[in-house]
Amino acid sequence: MPTPPQQPAAPSPPDFQTVFGQVREIGGWLTEAQARTLWDEARRVPAGGLIVEIGSHQGRSTVVLAAAAPQARVVAIDPFVGGTMFGGLATRDRFQSNLARAGLVEQVELRQARSTELRPSWTEPVSFLYIDGKHDYWTLSDDLRWSEFLPDGARLCIHDAYSSIGVTLGLLRHVLPSRRLRYLDRTGSLARFEVAAVTAPVSRADRLRILAELPWWLRNVGIKVLLRLRLYPLARLVGHSDRADPY
Ligand SMILES: C[S@@+](CC[C@H](N)C(=O)[O-])C[C@H]1O[C@@H](n2cnc3c(N)ncnc32)[C@H](O)[C@@H]1O
Repeated sequence: MPTPPQQPAAPSPPDFQTVFGQVREIGGWLTEAQARTLWDEARRVPAGGLIVEIGSHQGRSTVVLAAAAPQARVVAIDPFVGGTMFGGLATRDRFQSNLARAGLVEQVELRQARSTELRPSWTEPVSFLYIDGKHDYWTLSDDLRWSEFLPDGARLCIHDAYSSIGVTLGLLRHVLPSRRLRYLDRTGSLARFEVAAVTAPVSRADRLRILAELPWWLRNVGIKVLLRLRLYPLARLVGHSDRADPY
């Protein structure tokens, strides 16, 4: 009997620790535990799927997503805004050399633009969405509309979900009453959501879990205020011994 034609084997990624060893050298705010969460989510993306990342900076999270999902394409969106925190076009050069060093240039398409400029004309389905762009309420509110391109059961992660006033207010306004986005959990302030199927809509218990994170959000905003005022001993009293913001 003739043997059926073989499907080409899906490329397998290197292991997380090897990739994170390189990612550690890339500037950014993503913690190792958060990188692991993104890695696991990217692994779930089907072959031929598309990962969209909003806010790429030097490519710390982009490298994690693309390395974890050789079966998928990644679109990385960043206008490379100027200023001391984000660094402007020099950051774009770092992004490109970090991607080249990781051997991921072919897999990642950089769109140098604001997410809010691209979204109105976007048409392609998205398999996994990562939001870590501009953290104000209005941009986050618009960025959440990218979830309209996700199918039922797909996931969305948002960085700084519970450590930034704009992002958290956007979640309370748009996700808390949503029938479509279910809050799953968080790794630090990286929150995971899932697109709910019509047959299993978001429940009251799902919504309560968002509200239950609010004390933690208030603690993080308080710590950020203490750090800005250089009141480091007070921040230590509430368990934050780092000089960096809580992420
Ligand atoms: C917190 S950083 C992203 C960090 C990155 N995800 C990482 O893991 O290293 C935020 C980025 O969002 C970018 N950004 C600012 N406004 C944006 C917008 N409207 N759309 C997309 N990205 C934006 C900034 O240029 C900056 O590089």
